Amino acid sequence: MNLVFEINGSRRSLGNVPCHATLLSVLRDRLGLLGTKEGCGVGECGACTVLLDGEPVNACLTAAWKAAGRNVITIEGLATEGLHPVQEAFVDSGAIQCGFCTPGMIMSTYALLKRSACPDVEDIKSALAGNLCRCTGYKQILDAVRAAAAKMDRTHDDEVSGG
Ligand code: FES
Ligand code: FES
Repeated sequence: MNLVFEINGSRRSLGNVPCHATLLSVLRDRLGLLGTKEGCGVGECGACTVLLDGEPVNACLTAAWKAAGRNVITIEGLATEGLHPVQEAFVDSGAIQCGFCTPGMIMSTYALLKRSACPDVEDIKSALAGNLCRCTGYKQILDAVRAAAAKMDRTHDDEVSGG
């Protein structure tokens, strides 16, 4: 199939995408967007989280054709001029160790903060429930999300279209 969609603010047309291809495979293998990670490959870890029309989805479980005519944002779409405030907050809070979960965590956090400027701890835990981290113990991640909320409250958010 010919797949036309918007990725990180740019319209792309990809010919010859197999019907069974996942969005994750298209992002990584066709577009070279390697920031989105493949962990479990079966919807359990959240490492592959991207935004589809602003909503977090597991790209490993999402058929590529479902993105047709829609807007996808990956971690590469957030850092337009230097790090995005959410990325800065993760760095500053020590919420990154091996970093494998980080792009997915950040995309879920970004989606949360777009719909809720001041989430409480239960909101944060709920938003990140599908994102697993083997390294940090999660405290630093919770700290990072709170710090990101404060940063985004203060900082003009240069969002990519549809984000
Ligand atoms: Fe998609 Fe684990 S790689 S949820
Ligand atoms: Fe290693 Fe989260 S920092 S899995």
